[in-house]
Amino acid sequence: MFTRRQFLQLCAKGALACSLTPTFISKLARAMENIDKKPVVLWIENNTCAGNFFSFMNTLNPSLRQLLFESIELRFSNTLMTAQGEQALDILEETMEEGDYILMAEGTIPTKADGHYGTLGIRNGKTITQLEMINRLAGRANYIIAVGTCACFGGPYAAYPNPSGSVSLSEATGKETINVSGCPPNPDWIVGTLTHVILFGMPNLGTHNRPTMFYGENIHYRCPRRQMFNSNQFAEKPGDEGCLYLIGCKGPATYSDCPTRQWLSQHHSWPVEANTPCIGCVNADFPERSMPFFEPLPDQRIGGFNIKAANLKRIVAGGTALAIGTHFVANLASGRLKQKLLKAQRKETNDTLKPFKKPKKIGENNDSHE
Ligand code: SF4
Ligand code: F3S
Repeated sequence: MFTRRQFLQLCAKGALACSLTPTFISKLARAMENIDKKPVVLWIENNTCAGNFFSFMNTLNPSLRQLLFESIELRFSNTLMTAQGEQALDILEETMEEGDYILMAEGTIPTKADGHYGTLGIRNGKTITQLEMINRLAGRANYIIAVGTCACFGGPYAAYPNPSGSVSLSEATGKETINVSGCPPNPDWIVGTLTHVILFGMPNLGTHNRPTMFYGENIHYRCPRRQMFNSNQFAEKPGDEGCLYLIGCKGPATYSDCPTRQWLSQHHSWPVEANTPCIGCVNADFPERSMPFFEPLPDQRIGGFNIKAANLKRIVAGGTALAIGTHFVANLASGRLKQKLLKAQRKETNDTLKPFKKPKKIGENNDSHE
């Protein structure tokens, strides 16, 4: 028997488990066999680049074929379905009448102009807006899963000045929503969450209603370059070896299992391994608070102090191994860091240290690629 505990253990191990292993698939298949009726899933693309559905299609274990033919009944997908126009909208109406389905949606929902910035189609001569349809669908769904940072939190589509009044799925419907964020989310996060909902119901949700099995750990804690951060080995431009903090890595402010699960299935990698900073694509304030992407995290105000990236470098050089967040607070509490910060900030006003050198654009200085 495949228990919830086993499932969580498999998922939590990241690349070693949820994806890849035949064990997982066979257990999953056996568990799915015990379900009388394949669960009906509706996947609605609202204001989106469709990158989240493409990420979903990249699932390897289980494969998309296994998922679609053996595990679920994907009844609506803007990208995959052959039905068009009214015929496609009829499917939604019929499914709503039956009830008992899982609603997955990506992209934001425009609210201005009565939602007419985003439409799904025309039925019986009436334009059906995403706003109207998503609210009706959410009203009868067993579970609602927002896929991608736009659907979860607004993302780029809801960024300033947001002329269409785009909002996240939960804001549009007011319903409890499982947020699987990422730009796009890892296929394992999408498939793992869907599988959990089918087999065991609602997963444990953490900050911003995201499943803790995938979004429970800070990237910085698991990063293989953490030792470089601690020992003041910082990259000056993308492509350099070294911790990427000073060229904009948002890992210390980001919670996901990217360092262990990684991406691209057999060809495992992730942004930091590819020598480029994490831009915090899973975060609720992405992209506005992540930009500029290649600048250090904005000053942190912790314990009454503004922590500047330049100061951090100086402090780290002084031998204090820091992490952002809880480690920071612990150090502040001890008073040791407080002294160092005061000293560093006094120094900064005297401009005794060189200001942070902005990284050059890639290719701007070919010498540096030697
Ligand atoms: Fe890794 Fe980024 Fe943390 Fe540096 S700042 S250790 S690159 S997560
Ligand atoms: Fe996104 Fe950062 Fe992971 S940019 S993919 S959360 S490493």
